[in-house]
Amino acid sequence: MKFICVTLLIISGITDSRSEQYEVVGAVDVVPAVAGDDVILPCSVKPNISVVDMRVEWFRLDPKDSKLVHLYEDHEDRNTNQIESYRGRTKLNHQELQRGNASLKLSSVRVSDEGLYKCFIQSKSWYDDAIVNVSVEVNVILDADTAHPHLIMSRGGKQVRYKNTQTKGVDGGKDRFDQYLGVVGKDGFSSGCFYFEVQVKGQTVWDLGVTRESVNRKDWISLRPEKGYWIVGQRHREYRARNSPDYSFSLNANLQRVGVFVDYEKGLVSFNDVESKSHIYSYTDQCFNEKLYPFVCLGFNRNTNSTPLIICDDY
Ligand SMILES: *[C@@H]1O[C@H](CO)[C@@H](O)[C@H](O)[C@H]1NC(C)=O
Ligand SMILES: *[C@@H]1O[C@H](CO)[C@@H](O)[C@H](O)[C@H]1NC(C)=O
Ligand SMILES: *[C@@H]1O[C@H](CO)[C@@H](O)[C@H](O)[C@H]1NC(C)=O
Repeated sequence: MKFICVTLLIISGITDSRSEQYEVVGAVDVVPAVAGDDVILPCSVKPNISVVDMRVEWFRLDPKDSKLVHLYEDHEDRNTNQIESYRGRTKLNHQELQRGNASLKLSSVRVSDEGLYKCFIQSKSWYDDAIVNVSVEVNVILDADTAHPHLIMSRGGKQVRYKNTQTKGVDGGKDRFDQYLGVVGKDGFSSGCFYFEVQVKGQTVWDLGVTRESVNRKDWISLRPEKGYWIVGQRHREYRARNSPDYSFSLNANLQRVGVFVDYEKGLVSFNDVESKSHIYSYTDQCFNEKLYPFVCLGFNRNTNSTPLIICDDY
């Protein structure tokens, strides 16, 4: 009798776990994300049974150790051990869990979100996982072919500084700034959202923001929206935005890094002080009808300060 009972238990155990078998499926291709925008990291079970009663864990696959991005367990999100940089930016749709969909929504994507993620789904008797590879586009690289001849570019187009003599072998090509010490990004964009950060620490003369593809890059012009420039800038002690009317303001003297956020459809270009997390200035209700390019500039004609402006990619 005992023997039969044990056998029955084992058999029922096996059938139970069989009925719970599933495969976890991620994304076949790399998932492209745009800094500043939201992205869905796909993950689901096949067959599409409900995972409401299961444990769903999203990890960051790090060569050293894997770290928690999002945990759902006992019917709720439990994110006390989540990596700090993901705090408040992850969301599992609980309704979708019923349909076997454990995709993770990641908001306000950062360049540092790029990498491999593991989606791990565990029931009482079974588990499986899938890898999702996220690549963050925008990663801004400056286009040396547009840089004023007195600018030196380095670190693979991530840094620009002023040098008193013309860079060797550089002509005054038609796309190049010839008075403003400016340079634009290699890639433009014409939809969605876009974010980048520029380190300005130690430099006291600069402008940065975005510019239209077809702008005039020659001679002196006022860097304002009518001319296709949406910028904030510093001239020694004064900070300014070139709107109508011009707007001057004082800032934390310790401004180190400026974040630029653009929402193309909304017509918004917004600047923030990254360290203090404070808003600097926004151009709102603009009408964009061409590609926009990141723009950084070390002033007009000359700059006695050789500190570089640096495009950051660690945020
Ligand atoms: C899974 O859920 C996400 C929302 O979390 C949704 O955007 C996505 O379309 C869903 N996938 C499927 C295949 O329904
Ligand atoms: C599972 O997928 C099938 C076929 O794609 C669909 O008809 C069914 O409604 C899905 N079940 C749930 C719970 O979403
Ligand atoms: C992830 O995608 C990148 C391209 O964005 C590729 O270089 C890398 O090899 C991929 N990693 C894996 C493990 O597939």
